[in-house]
This record gives sequence, structure tokens and C-alpha cells, in this order.
Amino acid sequence: MKLFKRRSIDFFLIVLFISAAISSPGCAQVMAPPAGGSTLTAKVDSVLELMTLEEKVGQMTLFTSDLTTTGPTIRDDYVPLIRSGKVGALFNAYGTEYTTKLQKMAVEETRLGIPMLFGYDVIHGFRTIFPIPLGIGASWDPALAELTARVSAREAAASGLHWTFAPMVDVARDARWGRIAEGAGEDPYLTSRFGEAYVNGYQGNDLKDTNTILSTVKHFAAYGAAVAGRDYNTVNMSEREMREVYLPPFKASLDAGAATVMTAFNEYNGVPATANEFLFNQVLRDEWGFDGFVVTDYTSIPEMIAHGYSANETEAAFDALQANVDMDMQSGLYLSELPKLVEEGRVDVEQIDQAVRRILRMKFKLGLFEDPYRYINAGREKQELLSEENKAAARRVSQESIVLLKNEKSLLPLDKNIGTLAVIGPLADNKKDMLGSWSAAGHWEDNVTMLQGIKDKVGDETKILYTRGAAVTGDSTGGFSEAVNIAQKADAAILFLGETRDMSGEAASRATLDLPGVQQELLEKVYETGTPVILVLSNGRPLAIEWADNHIPAIVETWFLGTEAGNATADILFGDVNPSAKLPVTFPRTAGMEPMYYNEKSTGRPMTDQKYTSKYIDVKNSPLYPFGYGLSYTTFGYSNLRLSADTISGREPLQVTVDIKNTGDRTGEEVVQLYVRDLYASITRPVKELRDFKKLRLKAGETQTVSFTLTKEDLSFYSQDLQKVAEPGRFKVFVGTNSRDVKQADFEYIN
Ligand code: NOJ
Repeated sequence: MKLFKRRSIDFFLIVLFISAAISSPGCAQVMAPPAGGSTLTAKVDSVLELMTLEEKVGQMTLFTSDLTTTGPTIRDDYVPLIRSGKVGALFNAYGTEYTTKLQKMAVEETRLGIPMLFGYDVIHGFRTIFPIPLGIGASWDPALAELTARVSAREAAASGLHWTFAPMVDVARDARWGRIAEGAGEDPYLTSRFGEAYVNGYQGNDLKDTNTILSTVKHFAAYGAAVAGRDYNTVNMSEREMREVYLPPFKASLDAGAATVMTAFNEYNGVPATANEFLFNQVLRDEWGFDGFVVTDYTSIPEMIAHGYSANETEAAFDALQANVDMDMQSGLYLSELPKLVEEGRVDVEQIDQAVRRILRMKFKLGLFEDPYRYINAGREKQELLSEENKAAARRVSQESIVLLKNEKSLLPLDKNIGTLAVIGPLADNKKDMLGSWSAAGHWEDNVTMLQGIKDKVGDETKILYTRGAAVTGDSTGGFSEAVNIAQKADAAILFLGETRDMSGEAASRATLDLPGVQQELLEKVYETGTPVILVLSNGRPLAIEWADNHIPAIVETWFLGTEAGNATADILFGDVNPSAKLPVTFPRTAGMEPMYYNEKSTGRPMTDQKYTSKYIDVKNSPLYPFGYGLSYTTFGYSNLRLSADTISGREPLQVTVDIKNTGDRTGEEVVQLYVRDLYASITRPVKELRDFKKLRLKAGETQTVSFTLTKEDLSFYSQDLQKVAEPGRFKVFVGTNSRDVKQADFEYIN
């Protein structure tokens, strides 16, 4: 029992009990608790019995180490606090050496030696960095999301981590909100499929597997609906919208087994999420039966004072506990305030015990009581981090995340033997920004730049001329003349423009969606040379690029692709891979159209040429690029949409079938999308709602038949009294290549 150096006789007995229970079924039976309790419950309770109140609130406390910073505050006293048994979990600490050192403090220096949990924001890769989640969402392939999570978990776990604060499943309908980069976009159905996939990838089938880590679905709830897209801003929302749009991805991810949930910074219905009993007690615990633990987002407990909800720190801790929020990230208020509240008789110790039980249960499930160091593995760390296999996975996912937005006269793919190519722009020879927001243990030095990717791809005879032209931000136009100069000498010019990595993600909202700095001017200057221009964007949100769409013949959206950015982009630009990604978000013409999303409601005055209809006077209503949109180097024809019946009832589902033909001359992948609309209902319904999709691979000339099944559940919505119902009546079903270009058919639903 070297790992658990004796701190007390009692705990020694517990360890014996636990090891006996684990190693011998006979013994486990002898040790089994009184009727009804499971072995796990008995183990948890036997630890709980030994704990003082201070040790209990310590387990409910999560602090950041000073290895990296992901929020406004950092304490310098976390080490003494660990040593005195007051820290149950730590984040922003990773690496075998560092986590071993810290875990030793908890295990060997505290009275009970309870191991700590190590958490971290492993959002789109740990050391091997994948595309930002919005980019992964553009693949419309949840299996790829699962792959990214599996690779990230393998790398992170080997480095001593047990827990990631991902996936973010906040639906984001406003491109100004910087954290749109961190989710799968604007649609509840797509976000749900991706949420489940990430959870499966991180957690695998067994939490004890040292290649897996706990996931966290966040931020509960409606964080993505911040008013005016300004991060941390208040949220104004009906319960209907909450249930229809914002909650489904959480439910789907929890059904997939997500172990933990994080609160949100915003308020909902006048109550900060972190103390919101409707969200946590009613929906999460009572309706959904969630039995994992809930962690706050950073210092959201004391932030309830600034919200104007909790009068002081003691009240804030009290309020969060009432919502069954189990773990306090970073504020330390559970640690300092809960014991007082118990002494005063305002908090029953049983409330605290419940939270501690949930946390200890997770530590048992991970196997930390058997061996607190079991995840930390220098050998595996060395082998796993940035392995060739992981980089290959990143390249593949990156290829599938790149969206071809425009390709006039088949300018792309480029010939690898093109004579002279001008490569221009601040994101062309740029390793740092390729990381995107959140980069965990990623090293920007590992990233392949766009310029490098191109150089590695072209033939020996091709001449590459490169200049930066301008920075992403700032107003210097000093580099323009060289940009124009090399463009004039070239057969084609590729401009790499967009945002820096810190212009999206947390605390990175923008009021404008234009190309920042002087990049638009640079683009126009190069365009004026008459050399064919390809615009390649790297950014964490939809950009308003109407001018480019009107003038530039080829436009490619790469988001931020991570480690393999340059390789994957060159694979697409030169046609080794045929683009197949589709937008998981609507691209507006201008920021003033936000929030903008395809599944809107019709007004009573839908737009016509008539003055008094719902429209702008200065910009078209339609998006620049609709949700689900993306081109390929081949083309696809949709025909023969047919339904299995004209009328269906709740008992038999409807089969929706369509033929898809690859009408071009190369193999390609197409995401076939299915939407529905309930035409008249007791609660008005969106003009379209995504209900299913399938990604197909088709050879040139090949036709495949795709069938979808629509069930009663797919036709349901929340009625006046918020019950899920499918109402009899006429429905439309749409199948197509994006949310705008669809074939449609009608059917009747009867109960
Ligand atoms: C605040 C962010 O909102 C959250 O998503 C993240 O997990 C925590 N900081 C920890 O870094």
C-alpha cells in the first residue's frame, strides 16, 4: 500500500476494504453494505464517513494551477491548499512530471490521501491540434468528431489528465459571439449528433480505461444566446425556445453518457445559470435523471454578486449549492463559506454529502483509489503525443472540414505544375494562428503553414512568390505594392486572409464581421491586377464577405485547422482531396443581419417586392451562403424524391427516398440533408428543421439511392403547455444539398 501512505488507521482499512472488494468477489460480498446499496455506493460512503466537513468542501473545490491561464484570476496558494487536503481537483496542470508531483501532495501529504482529479480544456486536440470544433462540425461527419476526441483523450490521459471541459454543445445563432468557434454551429440536431460523438470519443466504453477521460457538456444552458452576441451578456429566452433549441444537444450528450456538466456564465429567466434550480434541479436532475457531477464555470459563483442576484459571497455559495452545483471552479467560496453555512444551520450537511458522493463516485469510476497515478504514463506520453498516426488523423479531419464556397469556371483545383504562383497574406506563412482558440498542450511550432503545404505540393518547375502584404490587424498598407508586384508576375494568386486566433473563442465577440484591418483593401488591390485570385479564409466564425463573393472567382473556408493546416489545405487546393464539407452556420451578408439562422419562423408578412413586408431596405434578406452549403469539384443531381405514403399515422414511420447522381467527372462526397416543416400548428413552426443527413461517396457517373425514416418524434414540438406532441395536419419534407436548394414533397400526418 505504498501509494496510500498511512494517514489514518481508518483510511488504511478503507483501502484494504476497497482492494479486497475489487480483487475478490467473495470478499466484496462480505464487505457488501446493507441491502440496497451497490458496492460503489458502499465504497463512496465508507470514504465519506471518514471525512471532516473541511475535507468534504475541499473535494468540492477545483483550482487552476499556474501552468496556463484560462480565466481572469489565478491563486498563488493552491499548493499549500492541496497539501492541507482542501483541493479535490485541479485544472490547467498536465504533463507526467507535473501531475505526479501534484498528485503526490494530495496522496502522501494529506490526512486521507484522496487523489485529485486533473481537468483541462482539451477542446480540439491536446498536443495534436485538430480543426476548431466549428470546422469539425463542417465535416457533417460525427464519426470524425469521435475520432478527434479519441485521439485527444489518448494524448491527454497519457499526460496525466482525467477530465476535459468539452464538448461545448451551445447552439450558436449569432456569428458575433466568439465562442461560435467552439461548437458545431447553429442547429440543435447537428449539434446533438456531434455532442454524442465527442462524448463517445472522450469516454470510450469504460471510464477505467486509461486511454479515456471524462467529458463535460457545457455550458448549461443557453450561453450561446448572449444578447447582441456579446460574450457573458444576459440571455432573454422563453422556456419553449430553451427546450426546443438549446437543451436537445445537452440531452443527447448526456444520453451518450457524459460524466459531468458545466454551468454557464449567463442568466436564464432572471436567475444566473449557476444558481438556476429550474435548470439543474428540475431539468437536469429530476427530468433527465443525471447522476454525474456539476462544476461551475470558472468564478461564476461570486459573479452572481455582479449579476445583482446574490448579496455577498456567502449568499453566492449558498445559492449555487441550492441548485445542486457540486464543484466550485476557482472561486474558493465553497471552501470558505459552506462550513459557516453548516454551522449556522442554513445548510444541511447531507446536501454537502450528496455533492461529495457524486465527485468521489467519479474518482472511483476512474480507478483513482486503486492507483492515483494510473493515468500518468511517461512512456505512453512519449509515444502518443503528436504521433504520426495522430497527425494523419488531424490531416484527414482537416481535409473534411474545408468548405469550398465558390469556384467559378473550375479555377480550382490548381495544376501542381502551374508556372508561377503568388502566395499572399498574413495567414499564409503563419504557424501561430493556425492553432485557433484553445490549444491545450499544442505547440504552434509544430503547425504546417499554408505556404509550406503549397511548397511541398507543387512540382519542381513551379515558382512560388510569397509576400505577407499586410497584417491581420492594423492599418499599414506598406506591403501592398509588393503584393501587387508578385501577383502581376503570377499565373494565379492565393490570398490567405481572415482573423487571428484570438479574435474568436472566449471573450472575443466582434460587432463587425468584415475582414479585419486592411485585408479587404489588400484583396481589392490584388484583384485589380487581373490575375485569377483564390481567397482562402482562416477564421473562427462566419465572415461577411459579400464583396469577395461578387468579385473573387474561388473562395475556400478553412476555419482554423490546427497542426496539419497547410498540408490539408494544399490537398484541397491541388485536388488530391475533393472538398465535401458544408457550412454548419449561416454566412450573413453583413453583421447587421445577426442573429441569423436557417430555422427561423415565418412572419405574417413574408418578404415580397411590396414595401410593407419583412425585409431590410439596404441588404437582401437571403444569406450570403446558407446553412448546409458547400461545393465540390464534382456536381450532384437530386431526382425522384418519393415518399412511402401520402398519409401517415404515429404508428408507421414515413420513408423518404431520393436518388443522388454524381454528374461530374471525379469521385466526390455529398451530404444529403433532410428537413421538415409543419405547415400549420397550434404553435408556429420554423420554416425548416434539419431532421437527418447522410454523407455519401459517389464515383463519377454513379447514382445512389438514399432513404430516410421520419418518425412521429421527428414531427413533434412543444405544445402550449410544453408537452411534446405531433399534431395532425399537412407537412412538407425537403431533401437537398443545403438548406436552400432542396426538392420537396407533402404528406399528411394523422394521429
Ligand atoms: C471559462 C470557460 O467559459 C470554460 O468553457 C472553460 O472550461 C473554463 N473557463 C476553464 O478554463
